[in-house]
Amino acid sequence: MLIPIAHRMLENQLVYDAYQTCVGSVKYRKNLVRKLAEEEITSFLDIGCGTASTIDLLPINASYHGIDISEKYLERARGKRPGLNLILGDVSKSAWTQFLNLEAPTTCIALGIFHHLSDLELKLMLQQCLSVLPKGSKIFSMDPIITESSSRGAKWFAENDRGKYVRTLTQLEEIFTVNNLNPTIKVESRQMRIPLDTVEILITL
Ligand SMILES: C[S@@+](CC[C@H](N)C(=O)[O-])C[C@H]1O[C@@H](n2cnc3c(N)ncnc32)[C@H](O)[C@@H]1O
Repeated sequence: MLIPIAHRMLENQLVYDAYQTCVGSVKYRKNLVRKLAEEEITSFLDIGCGTASTIDLLPINASYHGIDISEKYLERARGKRPGLNLILGDVSKSAWTQFLNLEAPTTCIALGIFHHLSDLELKLMLQQCLSVLPKGSKIFSMDPIITESSSRGAKWFAENDRGKYVRTLTQLEEIFTVNNLNPTIKVESRQMRIPLDTVEILITL
């Protein structure tokens, strides 16, 4: 009863940003993006960009392309920096790729999106990304995960997330094998103020 209400409240972009800040997720994501932004690449593709909470960490000369299915989130993202290429669309469909012409190696950031996609949608999304990312690009993702050593609290938070597809390591590995990708996979815990285990995946193309 309370969980569906909380999920509905999180659809509001202000509530979403406030919640992410409170649970320490913004700080965690910022640390991840800060590391990615230290590299030489200045072209970024943000899959499921939400309100573009990480934009401030990217170099001022960065070219930024963000795709999200929520117009409300994109509206909030729009005011954050001029010149952002924000695309309203479903990442598992091909339509969004026509708004991109990436020529330089690009860092594809996918924070908290994989667990919103079914296996088929995730595979299709990866295929769309592979179709637009030039050689030398990379894909970096972070999502909640449930492992054998996840605490009861961590399992509760993962199971009650708005994303319906929180996966195990084996399930994730299967998806990447099908797509012939060779990811580096790292499980993290205690990165936030809530007990949630996460999985970080890096694919270099
Ligand atoms: C947990 S939020 C993460 C937002 C952002 N990446 C961040 O780190 O703040 C997940 C985002 O994925 C978006 N999303 C979910 N399903 C999607 C889909 N099929 N296509 C595009 N965006 C989607 C949601 O609207 C939401 O903004």
